[in-house]
Amino acid sequence: MAVNKKIHELQEKRKKILLGGGEQAIEKQKAMGKWTARERIMALLDKNSFIEYDLFVEHDARDFDMDKKSLPSDGVIIGSGTIYNAPVAIYAQDFTVAGGSLGQMHSRKITKIMDYALKMRMPLIGINDSGGARIQEGVNSLAGYGEIFFRNTISSGIIPQISVILGPCAGGAVYSPALTDFVFVVDKISKMFITGPEVIKTVLGEEISMEDLGGARVHSEITGNAHFFSMSEDECFEQIKRLITFIPRNNSTKAKILDLAEPDRKYDPEKIVPDDPTLPYDVRDVIKSIVDNSDFFEIMELYAKNIVIGFGRMGGRTAGFVANQPLEMAGVLDVDSSDKAARFIRYCDAFNIPIITLVDLPGYLPGVDQEHAGVIRHGAKVLYSYSEATVPKITVILRKAYGGGYIAMSSRHLRADFVFAWPTAEIAVMGPEGAANIIFRKEIMSSDDPDGMRKQKVEEYKDKFANPYVAAARGYVDAVIEPKETRRFLLHAIEASEDKVVKMLDKKHGLPPF
Ligand code: HXC
Repeated sequence: MAVNKKIHELQEKRKKILLGGGEQAIEKQKAMGKWTARERIMALLDKNSFIEYDLFVEHDARDFDMDKKSLPSDGVIIGSGTIYNAPVAIYAQDFTVAGGSLGQMHSRKITKIMDYALKMRMPLIGINDSGGARIQEGVNSLAGYGEIFFRNTISSGIIPQISVILGPCAGGAVYSPALTDFVFVVDKISKMFITGPEVIKTVLGEEISMEDLGGARVHSEITGNAHFFSMSEDECFEQIKRLITFIPRNNSTKAKILDLAEPDRKYDPEKIVPDDPTLPYDVRDVIKSIVDNSDFFEIMELYAKNIVIGFGRMGGRTAGFVANQPLEMAGVLDVDSSDKAARFIRYCDAFNIPIITLVDLPGYLPGVDQEHAGVIRHGAKVLYSYSEATVPKITVILRKAYGGGYIAMSSRHLRADFVFAWPTAEIAVMGPEGAANIIFRKEIMSSDDPDGMRKQKVEEYKDKFANPYVAAARGYVDAVIEPKETRRFLLHAIEASEDKVVKMLDKKHGLPPF
């Protein structure tokens, strides 16, 4: 029958294209420890959920003998499917076809799926594995990147955008991931840089490997370009799936409410913070003592470790956590930790996720390096993003809240909706030692026993200010609570602020200090 013949023809056409750049190229891909673009999509999405578009798209380049070449699907797969039944739009560059390089039709496929994701208000996932702009297609390739960057920008804050770097992402190509919300990298596989080792050698005479220049660790630990680091593609896909469970589909909805489970009893908030205020502890244990099931999904775990950010659930609802980490540099705010926190605060605000802030810091980091690196401008981002955020803001002061750090970490003055403090909280302009040395300098210097006098004055200062009660007496702190009461107070706050409404003044946009 004629119809059967047509169906057979379709099947044969599909089969040919599904092989991408052919068996040899696939073998080469595997030899590099990488999966194919199609395998990646199948591993990430729910079984049988993927629907592919534009399988039959071909390039139309003519120069450099391109008219004699066929590039199946023009080196990129696009479509949509689901992750744990939540819809997502996806594209994956196919390195086996002309190195996944981006020409005109390749970029049109990507922008088509980006437009689709924005129109349907669903998350967009981009899997990058490409040699960058297709050299033979000249300005058409550059135009393609420009169209992608524009869409990344206008979609920002409306739909979640996730970038996965599973191969090279070179030259201008890096700016698409840089404009998206979350970047995932895999050890030894991801490579991101503006100019590669060969250019660096030619221009600067310096030798460096791709790995040391822009490998997964570099971007997770040093540059902060990557948010999630994994050891394998498998692990990377599991992380993406987990992220999807915490975030809403778009900015006009909330994340799905999942079943509530109490935190693990092994995390006892009374026992985490040491009696001696100079000793460190892991603030992630405090988070785990508070969130449902003690399940905390940390973001940027390897970068600016002096602040901890990530998602947890409170009574089934997603909350974003921002917490100073006393284990690293006493939890100070510096250039990098300010950037890390500020961007996350804005993410939560854009996507209707309440922010819970846990405070324990001696303030902003002093020093010439920090001043010259712009700690004033970067530190201001924290103040700006908290002040601007209209989602529910809940603060718990665990221990130190000194100086600018007190104000910056979601204080009442930046419009926190709820501020709770543990009895161990110390809210003051600076630490007792520094403060006593300044305000009691004369008494200390003129005393027969300066050391004894200093100790006495430090104690006096501590009694007066190193506690939560002065702030509580002014109403800057709403309640001084026992550590074991924290979850109950936070659940109450999250529930009470479910329908919070705050209207900001009309303006085109503000000017955050970026
Ligand atoms: C056309 C490309 C290509 C490109 C790779 N290929 N990159 N074709 N344009 N940009 C092709 C190769 O010719 C080869 O084709 C196939 O892809 C596989 O590439 P290999 O070099 O064999 O692979 P490998 O050894 O793994 O090296 C991968 C690589 C290298 C490191 C990515 O290919 C490379 O350095 N490519 C160029 C990277 C680059 O400089 N891109 C331009 C950046 S500038 P055959 O037919 O032999 O299989 C840019 C500007 C954008 O992107 C600006 C936007 C604002």
